[in-house]
Amino acid sequence: MKNTIFTTTATVFMLLLLPGTLAAGVESLRGPLPLDAPAKIFPAKKQQKAEGGFERGWKQQPPQIPHEIDKDRISLRENTCLKCHSKENHEKEKAPEVGESHYVDRTGKKLTKISQRRWFCNQCHVPQVDAQPLVGTTFEPLPQK
Ligand code: HEC
Ligand code: HEC
Repeated sequence: MKNTIFTTTATVFMLLLLPGTLAAGVESLRGPLPLDAPAKIFPAKKQQKAEGGFERGWKQQPPQIPHEIDKDRISLRENTCLKCHSKENHEKEKAPEVGESHYVDRTGKKLTKISQRRWFCNQCHVPQVDAQPLVGTTFEPLPQK
């Protein structure tokens, strides 16, 4: 009987106090704001630009985008990246041509139009901002040969 009382007291103690202890010092990303209050607006991070492009981490890495893409649009019908990077336009626009691999379908057949697999450029190519990583990383680029 004594034991039961003890166990019950201990359980009640844990149920009431433990969540409180765990929650202390923990804050959500939007801060201690009421649910219906708008969160603080963070200043937009500045995009990094790199003259001549960013160095690749390894040979086959999709190169990162060294310029702004805010005004570019990629949709079912439209792809403004190709105005500069396609086979036809890259010389005129003095932009690097998309890789050969971008004109090959999944069976290895060469195409005259950009492969559908490469249509959504920002699936693989992304711009960079000057921001601290959220978690640490020990990644190091492969030595360039
Ligand atoms: C107005 C022309 C123009 C448009 C539009 C454009 N780019 Fe570029 N892009 C360039 C030029 C010029 C460079 C070379 C810049 C340099 O090396 O400093 C470049 C560089 C790049 C590179 C780096 C290539 C490398 O080998 O390092 C990537 C990747 C890229 N662009 C992707 C894109 C994507 C994706 C879009 C659409 C969201 C896009 N670009 C839209 C002109 C353009
Ligand atoms: C599925 C991933 C993927 C997609 C989607 C993709 N790329 Fe790439 N891209 C790569 C990889 C990987 C490389 C490097 C190897 C190569 O050239 O194939 C590359 C290389 C490039 C290069 C540099 C070529 C060179 O010789 O230096 C440019 C420019 C580029 N891509 C632009 C684009 C544009 C513009 C689009 C959209 C129309 C696009 N890519 C879509 C993966 C992708």
